[in-house]
Amino acid sequence: MASTPSAPRSARPHRGQELELTVDTLAYGGNGVARMDGYVVFVAGGMPGDRVRAEVGKAKRAYAEARAVEILEPGPDRIDPVADHPGAAWQVLPYERQLEVKQAQVADALTRIGKLEGFELEPIVPAVAQWRYRNKLEYSFGTGEGGELVCGFHAPGRWNEIVPMTDCRLASERGNELREQVLAWCREQGLGAWDRRTHTGFLRNLVVREGRATGQFQVRLITSPGEMDAERLAGVVEADGVLWTQTASLGESSAGGSTRLLSGSPQLMDDLGELRFLISPEAFFQTNTEMASVLYGAATEFAALRGVERVYDLYCGIGTIALSLAARAREVIGVELVEPAVADAIENARLNEVSNASFFAGDIRTSMRELVEEAGKPDVCVIDPPRAGLSAKVVRRIIEAGPERIVYVSCNPTTLAPNAAQLVEAGWTLKRVRPVDLFPQTPHIESVALLER
Ligand SMILES: C[S@@+](CC[C@H](N)C(=O)[O-])C[C@H]1O[C@@H](n2cnc3c(N)ncnc32)[C@H](O)[C@@H]1O
Repeated sequence: MASTPSAPRSARPHRGQELELTVDTLAYGGNGVARMDGYVVFVAGGMPGDRVRAEVGKAKRAYAEARAVEILEPGPDRIDPVADHPGAAWQVLPYERQLEVKQAQVADALTRIGKLEGFELEPIVPAVAQWRYRNKLEYSFGTGEGGELVCGFHAPGRWNEIVPMTDCRLASERGNELREQVLAWCREQGLGAWDRRTHTGFLRNLVVREGRATGQFQVRLITSPGEMDAERLAGVVEADGVLWTQTASLGESSAGGSTRLLSGSPQLMDDLGELRFLISPEAFFQTNTEMASVLYGAATEFAALRGVERVYDLYCGIGTIALSLAARAREVIGVELVEPAVADAIENARLNEVSNASFFAGDIRTSMRELVEEAGKPDVCVIDPPRAGLSAKVVRRIIEAGPERIVYVSCNPTTLAPNAAQLVEAGWTLKRVRPVDLFPQTPHIESVALLER
């Protein structure tokens, strides 16, 4: 298809069209931003200053989404990639530059989206390790060009194409060996990959989780319902826990289904500082253990506890933040939706001999009022929601609960900003924000914000 240097104002590009574009900046989420006569095109794989040939995926009235298929002229910061890895899109920027972009994106979200001012934006804390830092990798099975079984990641923008991995540079070497052990066994057994188009076939995903401090490994194979020699698999894979999840769901997800323990322990163990944590397969645990300690250290510093406070840890997962704060608080109460994570949190309190922490299973949206009635109002709220941030209703419940101090741990500055603005509107002041880099080579941004009444 012929390249179009730029489209006239009236001509919206169409799906499949190829465009030649110059990328100006990076948007939240990591795509390049290019403009054609003012019409915005988000370019996956485009870096600032790149001249690219890009193929259009979606084209809407206000903007289009495209994928860089050729770098015609590299931007000034572009460097050679270290690894062929769909999960490390920012590896073509020097690490210092990645940090600058993340810092600028946090500043931009807070000032432009949140219209916030008067707070201290601290410099981003760099990651200790720039590669092999992830303690959890979720791989997908697919069928290679020669019909062979492969295991790796989805190609960017291709839901049905899997890029095989021989060395995932975000995982440890041992984690890579375990993936290869499982893949070799599946090939030997003649097992085939699930077909995402027809929803037929067996092997779907492989989750390899690692306790970075304990050296433990957990391997969980996710398949469609069916037969395999599970006992043989358990004998072949050298991990501390081997699990098999069978799911009939039409979508691709490692959540849900029915899970069977094939060998070892159902929970993985890892340490954060002095604390030890048991982690169930369904439970969230920050995927960069080393930098999670730094993140929770910032949350602890911002909470500035004196030993007299009642602290709520909302979206508490397995109790990581609550248990990090417990020694400095009068009491800590955690709330979390996923029941196995709550069970882990209760067990983790016992394991670490923490007696002033309690945990409840519930949806924050519907359980806050009852919690405040039964437990009393919090002095400090730590909030660590998923990427979507807090709904307007949850913000209202937090305002009603009226904590003196709110420590907001955010994995998305574009939802932190409006939430912080709502709290500022209600009488809190945004004091400080500290971005912490947990995810080098990727566009993901974590930050901790302190709001005071
Ligand atoms: C970003 S994780 C944080 C977990 C924990 N604070 C940590 O650092 O390990 C968000 C957590 O919120 C939980 N969650 C999501 N929606 C929820 C809701 N409506 N009510 C309660 N918990 C929820 C998820 O299950 C997940 O454990």
